[in-house]
Amino acid sequence: MTGTVAAPSTEQTAEQTGGRTSAPAHRVEGREKVTGRAHYAYEYPVDEVAYAWAVCADVPHGRVRHVDVDAAMGLPGVLAVLWHGNAPRMASTGDAMQDQLQSDRVHFRGEVVAVVVATTAEQAREVAGLVRVDYATEPHRSVLTEDDPSLYRPEQLNAGIPTTSEMGDPDAAFERSEVRVDEVYRTPGLHNNAMEPHATTAVWTDDRVTLWDSNQGSTPVRDAVCQVFELPRDRVRVVSTHVGGGFGSKGTPRPQVVLAVLAARHVGRPVRMALTRQQMFALVGYRTPTIQRVRLGADRTGRLQVIDHRAVVQTATHQEFAEQVGVATRVMYAARHRRTDHHVAVLDVPIPSWMRAPGECPGMYALESAMDELAVRLGMDPVELRIRNEPATDPERGTPFSSRNLVACLRRGADLVGWADRDPRPRSRREGEWWIGTGVASSTYPAYASPASASATAHPDGGYTVRVNATDIGTGARTALLVLAAEALGAARDRVRILIGDSDLPEAGVAGGSMGTASWGWAVTKVCAALRAELEDRFPDGPAEDLTVQASTEEDLQDRADVTRQAFGAQFATVRVSDVTGEIRLDRMVGVFAAGRIVNPVTARSQFLGGMTMGVGMALLEEGVMDAAFGDYANHDLATYHVPVNADIRDIHVEWIDEHDEQVNPMGTKGIGEIGIVGAAAAVANAVHHATGIRVRSLPVHLEDVA
Ligand code: MOS
Repeated sequence: MTGTVAAPSTEQTAEQTGGRTSAPAHRVEGREKVTGRAHYAYEYPVDEVAYAWAVCADVPHGRVRHVDVDAAMGLPGVLAVLWHGNAPRMASTGDAMQDQLQSDRVHFRGEVVAVVVATTAEQAREVAGLVRVDYATEPHRSVLTEDDPSLYRPEQLNAGIPTTSEMGDPDAAFERSEVRVDEVYRTPGLHNNAMEPHATTAVWTDDRVTLWDSNQGSTPVRDAVCQVFELPRDRVRVVSTHVGGGFGSKGTPRPQVVLAVLAARHVGRPVRMALTRQQMFALVGYRTPTIQRVRLGADRTGRLQVIDHRAVVQTATHQEFAEQVGVATRVMYAARHRRTDHHVAVLDVPIPSWMRAPGECPGMYALESAMDELAVRLGMDPVELRIRNEPATDPERGTPFSSRNLVACLRRGADLVGWADRDPRPRSRREGEWWIGTGVASSTYPAYASPASASATAHPDGGYTVRVNATDIGTGARTALLVLAAEALGAARDRVRILIGDSDLPEAGVAGGSMGTASWGWAVTKVCAALRAELEDRFPDGPAEDLTVQASTEEDLQDRADVTRQAFGAQFATVRVSDVTGEIRLDRMVGVFAAGRIVNPVTARSQFLGGMTMGVGMALLEEGVMDAAFGDYANHDLATYHVPVNADIRDIHVEWIDEHDEQVNPMGTKGIGEIGIVGAAAAVANAVHHATGIRVRSLPVHLEDVA
């Protein structure tokens, strides 16, 4: 970030949250990371380690007839070449990312068809490039269209969410509406690009295997390895002390986990395996392209009568992933007549999966663009249009919101950007060659929680150790948990040690769904409060020996009231578009969020900033370009798949509003990992429209769209 980025104002945030924001805490492991002492999965010092390298399919559909193992085995350093013809049959988890080398089928270009194990990474890589694979190719289809012959309505969407929702008579209501929007919005394939590629170091000792692995939750990794290799839980340990990001792509084990464990067992030595940046584009999941038709109908006062949002997405032939694109539309605005629906096309493509705010992110791009179009057609202010359609209760479930402060976010954001002085007419402000415009969009993300367990020990010296199998993927989760633990214990932060990132620790869910702090923090808060009570009761002068208590939130989660728990936010973007070249520059971005209690302002701000930055990438840069002939994304590295850099993000400002919510969890937190990306792309695209008068309904916005 440049110097123009707003510095974290802890005074301001403490005031904003009525003093409930804790004093800021810098990352507990920050020094380890910046001095290079923090070991990531590929770096754990292990003796006699060998290296595995993936050989990936050159064809998008067909069969592997043969792999020439003998030729490769004669090359220097090669310990093994595994493919389905010589790999042992293993049990299936039901997740194709863990079914490796078990079939001769090629389901997509880039799928792993063989693995080379060698004494050095360089040898493994070189030989992987030399291995001859004989394919029987079959015709493929890899380009998503809205009339694909394979389209079907899935039984349910990702996370078990219902596929459809319908209230009233949306078709008739749309026909009757005085002011209408009926448009199709498109988003491309988008690729998770965590800084640390997926990597595993696997070490077998007797009948036990230890993995150092980069993931968003080591419990699911442990469980998958147990299933595939038919091992009891106590024979598998997964350590994930430091993880360099995931954005969803490390939520469940990716191919290198099973392959590293298999290779290590096969060669009788520890094995490391990392995916390359290029391989990540096919092997770790990505956001499906979407085609979304949104119909909005309103009366002349701007009251929505109907909201109809239908999405088409893609999945792979051997595994269904149905992104819940219309799900945010179910909670956003009041309207009597409504419909959301999803269809999936089955294509010869890599398996799509979770990418930051699956569902909400692409869906809110379409809905919030359509809302902007409706505001223009009504001649109404787009902030006012949203406020006018604020629902009193969850518009589809009828339940109350545990708290909902979208309107406060919109108003605060509008103040911050001087919205009141904005000339609503598109193409009305020009400075030299630049057209300038400002756009707004709403944001939302559910406040989930999953069961977690934790233990806490009071030591005779006055220190504490708290354990929970949380994962810090770079977000500052470890630090937030330390803050919560110290608070619940009534102890100084420097007396508390927090242990996370190891499947031998008390079991907890993944760093996903923006529910890490809520889930793990709940267990940590509960166990620390129990320990504190025990100490006050029995050992007011401190324990003579270690005193440990344990707690789980399983029952707490079952007894919750039926309310809608959801964070909200407002995004404002100011862009300038060159009248000469069509170049689009982001001048300023402001995000205001209502996400319950903010535990640690320093790292929370970074979470919001990161999400917003990724949303700017979606709006202006990121685009997986499918090559129909090859059946693969043509751009699969960071030289050709562009993500925003500092020069693309100049002035970005994040705030949150005070929100007390006792119905989410005992801490009052709602989760902040994903909401920052939601709505950000729509705010930018709406700003482009305001600047130029050109409505671009297909992301990213290209220069040629506006030149
Ligand atoms: Mo997030 S896509 O739920 O890791």
